[in-house]
Amino acid sequence: MSGRIPQSFIHDLLARTDIVEVISARIELKRAGREYKALSPFSNEKSASFFVSPTKQFFHCFSSGKHGNAVGFLMEYDRLTFVEAVEELAKRAGLEVPREGGGHHERLVLDGPLDALAAAERFFREQLRKHPAAIEYLKKRGVGGDTAKSFGIGFAPDSWDSLTRFFDNPQHAIEAGLLIPKDGGKAYDRFRNRVMFPIRDTRGRVIGFGGRTLGDDPAKYLNSPETVLFHKGRNLFGLYEAKQSIKSELPFLLVVEGYMDVVMLAQHGIHNGVATLGTATTREHLALIYKSTRKVVFCFDGDRAGRAAAWRALEQALPEVHGDRECLFMFLPDGHDPDTLVQEIGQAAFREQIASAMTLSAFLLGELSKQVNLATLDGRAKLASLARPHLEKLRPGPLQTLMIDELARMTRLRREDLTPQTSAPSPDDEGPRRESRPSAGAVESGATRPVRRALQLLLERPDLADRVANTEQLLSADVHGVPALVEAIEFFQENPGANAGQLLEYWRGTAKATGLERLMRQELGIAEEGIEQEFADAIRLLQHKALDSRRRQLLAESQTRALQAGELAELNALTLQLSGRHVVQTGPAR
Ligand code: UTP
Ligand code: MN
Repeated sequence: MSGRIPQSFIHDLLARTDIVEVISARIELKRAGREYKALSPFSNEKSASFFVSPTKQFFHCFSSGKHGNAVGFLMEYDRLTFVEAVEELAKRAGLEVPREGGGHHERLVLDGPLDALAAAERFFREQLRKHPAAIEYLKKRGVGGDTAKSFGIGFAPDSWDSLTRFFDNPQHAIEAGLLIPKDGGKAYDRFRNRVMFPIRDTRGRVIGFGGRTLGDDPAKYLNSPETVLFHKGRNLFGLYEAKQSIKSELPFLLVVEGYMDVVMLAQHGIHNGVATLGTATTREHLALIYKSTRKVVFCFDGDRAGRAAAWRALEQALPEVHGDRECLFMFLPDGHDPDTLVQEIGQAAFREQIASAMTLSAFLLGELSKQVNLATLDGRAKLASLARPHLEKLRPGPLQTLMIDELARMTRLRREDLTPQTSAPSPDDEGPRRESRPSAGAVESGATRPVRRALQLLLERPDLADRVANTEQLLSADVHGVPALVEAIEFFQENPGANAGQLLEYWRGTAKATGLERLMRQELGIAEEGIEQEFADAIRLLQHKALDSRRRQLLAESQTRALQAGELAELNALTLQLSGRHVVQTGPAR
């Protein structure tokens, strides 16, 4: 039986493939500046509109609209399936295509980070069986054997090298974030004395781990670092298990904070909990959730911090809640998390609480009304203006209509005065523009422009990724597309020498791939020498936006609660940094 082809293999295969060679073995290519061109092999034409970019490892046919990397070309031109196309490229490169779980290919299969992670999951599970203290801990917390098994819970022994010794070669385990490199090509275990929770992608492959300490380690939970496979902002713990537990479509997903919350909900028969991995909810989380279900219920603590976290989730949700999608908010009683609450009140009562969750509009308008005095005309006008930017983020549809109706009732304003003038189109919807080759510089405006420009330049010069420090920080910039840009930057940082065609492969089948393809077929519109500078400018702009967004967020929070010492220090540093920049711009510092 043949299993799945490991993604790591396809990635390496594309690194060894030159799309120009593949295509020129089939049609005649002519050099044209940075690219090659030819008459379209897909349609009859007199002037060449088929382009191949050696730097991006990408082809685009403007007359037929077909485009893609070397795999995509073979699929189109040779009319192959995806697997056949990969096999064809492998044959060219003199490689055998490995299959996951295929017995005699085991050795070959074992050479990517994904395989290291799968091996580590087996290792941790085995260790759990051998460590009574860890079993005892899970029992004490109420986790049953079946639940532990269905999540693949394991244990990392209290040792610096038990996992390290398990690997002949540490390289892929280091890439996977399992081991930490030290001098002399050696490595040591990242996770020690921890109960291990595997984090899976939507296909069930382990991409990272979260580990809870059994000791008094100051970090109660330790997560895998961001790797080429694992991005906190893009994955949810428990999503795969939730989908597995229910054969039909999920009626809803319940977003909670912790690993143990997800596990204990499942223990009590609520199998559709998922957890963000110690980070705030991102728009990508929402997009991921709505791929599996049409309804999401956010479950947060009822305290100030919980409300603030819920508000952030709401802001990410607004642009994603359209059509028949629903988004609800449930707040827990003081001192409880889902784990303790479900143990105390049981499944049925917990489900009742879920059922009485607050709608998005009730939460939004409720929170905003707290900031004004609705008894006064001024207060009601203020509410309308506070609500406007949020309403504008919604796509036209039932929810927007409902919110406007409700807001009209509360403010006693006319619906017409509350309706956003033009419902802002998504920055991705650029309309048809395939006939000509626009220069990207001219095409978009506004906030997303630097994001798209940076990505476009990066596709041409992936080596520039190394110039970007602190990608995590960029994520605070409240600009659509930033998570994808960050992911692309990290991809190229983690994969030196990789090209745009490989990134496309990594994103195959996702909405990001579509956006990427669109960017890839646009001309840069500047000379080679200008690329570095323009990329640096775009990143600097986004970094400034990120700092500014974070500062605004802290300021907004300082209105509703006392900031902690660390947050205050951060706010001061941000204010200084942002004004420092200003001083540099306008003249010498005092
Ligand atoms: P909590 O501190 O609320 O822990 O963190 P918990 O889930 O209730 O843990 P138990 O019940 O004591 O075992 C919630 C989530 O925040 C992340 C983890 O994802 C955790 O599940 N977290 C927390 C970290 O990433 N690191 C930490 O040190 C603490
Ligand atoms: Mn807990």
